[in-house]
Amino acid sequence: MRKLSEVLKVENLDAGYGALKVLSDINLVIKERQAVVIIGSNGSGKTTLLHTITGLIRPYRGRIIYKGEEITHLPPHKKATKGIAFSRGTVFDSLTVSENLDIGTYLSRNVKKTTPTNVFELFPVLRSRLNQKAGSLSGGERVMLSIAKALVSNPDLLILDEPSAGLMPKVTLTLIDLFEKLKNEQKLSFLMAEQNVRMIKGFADYIYVLSHGRTVYSGGAQEILADEQMLRKAYLGI
Ligand SMILES: Nc1ncnc2c1ncn2[C@@H]1O[C@H](COP(=O)(O)OP(=O)(O)OP(=O)(O)O)[C@@H](O)[C@H]1O
Ligand SMILES: [Mg+2]
Repeated sequence: MRKLSEVLKVENLDAGYGALKVLSDINLVIKERQAVVIIGSNGSGKTTLLHTITGLIRPYRGRIIYKGEEITHLPPHKKATKGIAFSRGTVFDSLTVSENLDIGTYLSRNVKKTTPTNVFELFPVLRSRLNQKAGSLSGGERVMLSIAKALVSNPDLLILDEPSAGLMPKVTLTLIDLFEKLKNEQKLSFLMAEQNVRMIKGFADYIYVLSHGRTVYSGGAQEILADEQMLRKAYLGI
């Protein structure tokens, strides 16, 4: 079997907010078709790490390499056009579903400016709501729109911050099926901060556990999930 190539590599990353250093010496690798999940208690630095990788926060130190090219200090829109999509879980409430998707397409590497139909195959509910204002969608529908918005840019790496937050367990399971399909059929890689064990169990290949801005454990998902004592520590932050 061909060795899976590295899509993203983070080396010795330190980042934070002004004088407040949050992340210390983070190292991370995401391979092709791999789902990498970051877990850790509230305030451990998960969102800060995702924001640093997507370019919303400039790191103090370290390097971010995407498909062999250093992208450490590129702004978010440049990273997006290279194939790194970030689904923040938010949408533009005052715009329609269709307009929200257009914004996603605008960041696409594809010249074609039409919404790929497969987004509607993945989220049929969005097709019937194209002219509805995003602000009037349900919480779950907004999460779907936020993910659809990221997918229309045709990314190679999809970054998500707690996608299952606010979703019904049943919808979470649908989301896992969807992500599996994207991973296998479109060779998409995933980086996700997530607290929901159901989501992690169904989907993660590799897990990094953050505590106070440092990686305290990392390993294959099965190995990490089998270690109850470690998981308790990760969630309680002790
Ligand atoms: N904009 C900001 N300015 C200053 N400090 C911030 C900012 N955003 C986050 N922090 C601080 O950085 C630390 C890490 O926060 P972060 O949001 O990355 O944690 P998290 O792991 O995503 O937590 P949660 O599980 O609650 O989402 C916290 O101590 C937080 O107070
Ligand atoms: Mg967070």
